[in-house]
Amino acid sequence: MTQHPPEPYRIKMVEPVKLIDKEAREKALEEAGYNVFALKAEDVFIDMLTDSGTGAMSKHQWAAMMLGDESYAGARSYFRLAEAVDEIFGFEHWLPTHQGRAAEGILSTLLVKEGNYVPNNMHFDTTDANIRSRGGRPTNLVIDEAYDPENLHPFKGNMDLEKLKAFIEEVGAENIPFGMMTVTNNAGGGQPVSMENIRAVAKIYKSYEIPFFIDAARYAENAYFVKMREEGYADKTPTEITQELFSLADGMTMSAKKDAIVNIGGLLCMRDNNLFVQAQNELIMREGFPTYGGLAGRDLDAMAVGLYEGLEEDYLRSRLGQTAYLNEKLLEIGVPVIQPAGGHAVYLDAGALLPHIPHAEFPDQALVVELYREGGIRGVELGSVMFSYEDPDTGEMVYPDLELVRLAIPRRTYTQSHLDYIVETVEKIVARTDEIKGYRFTYAPQFLKHFTARFESIA
Ligand code: F0G
Repeated sequence: MTQHPPEPYRIKMVEPVKLIDKEAREKALEEAGYNVFALKAEDVFIDMLTDSGTGAMSKHQWAAMMLGDESYAGARSYFRLAEAVDEIFGFEHWLPTHQGRAAEGILSTLLVKEGNYVPNNMHFDTTDANIRSRGGRPTNLVIDEAYDPENLHPFKGNMDLEKLKAFIEEVGAENIPFGMMTVTNNAGGGQPVSMENIRAVAKIYKSYEIPFFIDAARYAENAYFVKMREEGYADKTPTEITQELFSLADGMTMSAKKDAIVNIGGLLCMRDNNLFVQAQNELIMREGFPTYGGLAGRDLDAMAVGLYEGLEEDYLRSRLGQTAYLNEKLLEIGVPVIQPAGGHAVYLDAGALLPHIPHAEFPDQALVVELYREGGIRGVELGSVMFSYEDPDTGEMVYPDLELVRLAIPRRTYTQSHLDYIVETVEKIVARTDEIKGYRFTYAPQFLKHFTARFESIA
């Protein structure tokens, strides 16, 4: 019998959840315009929409919150967080932000000009949109293995170094205000990046004098993958691996709502003093004074503790064990999933599961709807709803290679029996895939469509 390692914590406070009946779920779907972002959380039984801000804080984090210093400037909480950020990431300058996209927004506002390019292994939706909204063109240059769900490459988040060099030569380094790397690669299956690859990417960016920023949302999970899979790292701690990784970059944007296990928070770090001064001014305009950056003092304290807890080895072993468990169970019942398991989520290959539905009719959206309809489970589509766009040169729609449905596992929140229930629910859906139809938009905004779009079934 497959099992994941026992959770290295026990439950002290519970949050009741309930499965509403089938008719109520159907009504909820209809009212939501078949967009699960519009569901009431109360109507969701198991919420795998995101691992962002949805983790369970520890007693140490809750205790730290009571120490929060709410002074407008120079709060004690700020200095406690500064100590953690300095020790773990080691950048010369840093700013707190209310979440990751605020850090991306500031960076894009300051650096991206009309017609610029920003390469990355793969951009997540908010970095993509922040760059696009400044007239920039986010470009994904991940290795080809990332697009093959069955390929067992240990670091499928790696950048394709040849593609990166060719790309820089083609568009010109002067048109690339900064280059990125996302660890782990969320849009491509939560797959890790190797230290060797980051080192090589850093070297390439440096040789063209392109500043290198890491999208650091899942830095700790990436570090644990490096420890487990990369030669020479088995005896290093996740903290040591993290320190080495960030020593290679010129800065980072980070959503602290993931590996720092807080409900809200983010970071923007850099080495360059000039950029820091400008970023500070942007922060004051948009977020708040530089010692709180859109957060309460207590949020800074929760983050200071969470940054370390996210790096604890027994926690990471259990965390990645849960993901691997769910992945393996789904594979056992014949469901196509991205292999090997990523860090924070399992990704169902809806394109392969529902081959009769074309990109333009959103097979992944159809599967998301069925997960809720069948079992009150909320996942998220990572495919044509989220990533398709109109090519600015040709005016044609560009669709992503993979139509994925992500089931993100909130940290320290669900147990093995919840995961087993998900597998049972998927099994029921698999038995009736022929009946499942595609969807079309009845409303969609220009950017970040998935959040507020509404759909109807193509019956
Ligand atoms: N970068 C990555 C890799 C992310 O996964 C996210 C958020 C962000 C940046 C933006 O951070 O939400 O704090 O503003 N991802 C969440 C998700 C929303 O569900 O994967 P944010």
